[in-house]
Amino acid sequence: MKIQLNDVALEMVERGPEDGLPVVLIHGFPFDHRMWDRQLSALSDRYRMLTYDVRGLGRSDVGDGQYTMELYVDDLLALLDELDPGPVVGCGLSMGGYILLRALEREPERFRAAVLADTRSTADDDETRLGRADAIRVLKAEGAGAYADSFVEEALGATTLAERSDVVEEVREMVRSNDPGGMTGAQLAMISRTDTTAVLTELTVPLLVIVGAEDVLTPPEGARAMAAEAPDGAVRVVPGAGHLSALENPEAFNRALREFLQNLG
Ligand code: MLT
Repeated sequence: MKIQLNDVALEMVERGPEDGLPVVLIHGFPFDHRMWDRQLSALSDRYRMLTYDVRGLGRSDVGDGQYTMELYVDDLLALLDELDPGPVVGCGLSMGGYILLRALEREPERFRAAVLADTRSTADDDETRLGRADAIRVLKAEGAGAYADSFVEEALGATTLAERSDVVEEVREMVRSNDPGGMTGAQLAMISRTDTTAVLTELTVPLLVIVGAEDVLTPPEGARAMAAEAPDGAVRVVPGAGHLSALENPEAFNRALREFLQNLG
């Protein structure tokens, strides 16, 4: 269903018991809430699973296409205001992790626990910024399709690329279905985001960091370092998965997530 927040309508999906512990899933770039399908179906037996399409991606409005990380966080907080679920477990993958980290920095009281998957707390270095400028050129000149082919090769793990052509196609299709203007806006938001590493050291809630063993974009060493920064942090490495661990090996990802949620009581 669509929900009007700030100046745009965002696609929002809710599954599971209304009185279950609320878990908000924030997808990565350039995907949409469908990347969480396997978590929604597996965990909605017990948990109130909430997810949405970040503005400009999936079925959410593109608006003016000029985004910042602050605007993404404004949308997330507006969604929480609207649904009023009380403190939630935030779970963000990659760009979703950037959004969650900044939301934890701005309004920590909104969160009961945090799950960061295949992401990083550091801001972009110069090489990454220039890479994003190139990506914007490709998006403007050739659209989402051209971007999809190169990104899918980098994002998916070697095991998925070799053995799971259905997943490769699903991911490619998800990337292609996006509006290039919304994707450009997301790149601008990521280029200009701040370093949120200090949030980890100050976290007062449990943190689980999940990472694909074959993630070359945000590798396991970085995940271990993030978990080590937090007073109550743990890391789980998902075998046979790259940067999209939730989608590439959902069984292992869901086991780690369920165990973490169960331990929250
Ligand atoms: C993502 O999966 O969200 C992207 O890899 C994030 C990024 O481009 O930094």
